[in-house]
Amino acid sequence: MVSDRNFDDLAQRFERNVYGSLKGKIRLRILERDFKAHIPEYFHDSRHKRVLDLGAGHAHFSLNLATHGCYLLLNDISSAMLEQARVLMQQLDAQSGLIERVSFAHGPLQGLQQDASSAAFLPADLIICHAVLEWLAEPEVLFSYLRDYLKPGGYLSLSFYNINGLAFKNLLRTNYRKFDIDSFKPSRGSLTPTHPQDPMKVLNLLQAHDFSLIAKSGIRVFHDYILDPAHRERDVEGLLDKELAYSKREPFWQMARYIHYLCRYD
Ligand SMILES: C[S@@+](CC[C@H](N)C(=O)[O-])C[C@H]1O[C@@H](n2cnc3c(N)ncnc32)[C@H](O)[C@@H]1O
Repeated sequence: MVSDRNFDDLAQRFERNVYGSLKGKIRLRILERDFKAHIPEYFHDSRHKRVLDLGAGHAHFSLNLATHGCYLLLNDISSAMLEQARVLMQQLDAQSGLIERVSFAHGPLQGLQQDASSAAFLPADLIICHAVLEWLAEPEVLFSYLRDYLKPGGYLSLSFYNINGLAFKNLLRTNYRKFDIDSFKPSRGSLTPTHPQDPMKVLNLLQAHDFSLIAKSGIRVFHDYILDPAHRERDVEGLLDKELAYSKREPFWQMARYIHYLCRYD
């Protein structure tokens, strides 16, 4: 049986590869821009709001968000990832009194209602679910959990690994036989997510579960395609400006490595 991907063995590497790098900086800048444009209260004063981060990992984005006052529940099946989130929470606590507002739910996101203290936290005003969908054995089942865990009128920030970006990268690498966009199979032990997602199919599933789209962005529209990796850091501010601009532009956003959808649950 294929199971959801627990990141216990990847916790250290993930921190270095994603958040210690320009990749992580692009991701955080795009997310922050989308939040500030559509739900700015979460970056000003979010006291009394409840935010649930599913598959939270190290929770860089949600812990920083929680410095603005909200209650935050961090969920993950990986205890190693949650341990690193706890360290970051302690670092941020000095300025913002976070420790009293952050709680942890170690276990599968599918089981939150069976856990008494998580169940008491729900429903949330906002769910963050970033880079998790593509690691689930059955990605489609996520959507009904999202609906169960969110208040009507609440928001969902969903990001996921984009099959279009993976296809384009493989074409550029001349992997004509190894990769097929219509019948993707991950290689054993590979760090490529097990279920890269088609942005249009995800949008249809969201709409079928009563989510309406309020913003969409591509995350890393061109950074990963720069031919010589040494050139990626040549002009970091220039690159960030163009990533932000093209993340919203047709048709470029659809080619990004990740997609961010900000939705309201009606
Ligand atoms: C790629 S990481 C993303 C972490 C974080 N959300 C971020 O954006 O940096 C995927 C995370 O999902 C967690 N995960 C996978 N399946 C899960 C499940 N069924 N329930 C809860 N967490 C899960 C993994 O352990 C891992 O920490």
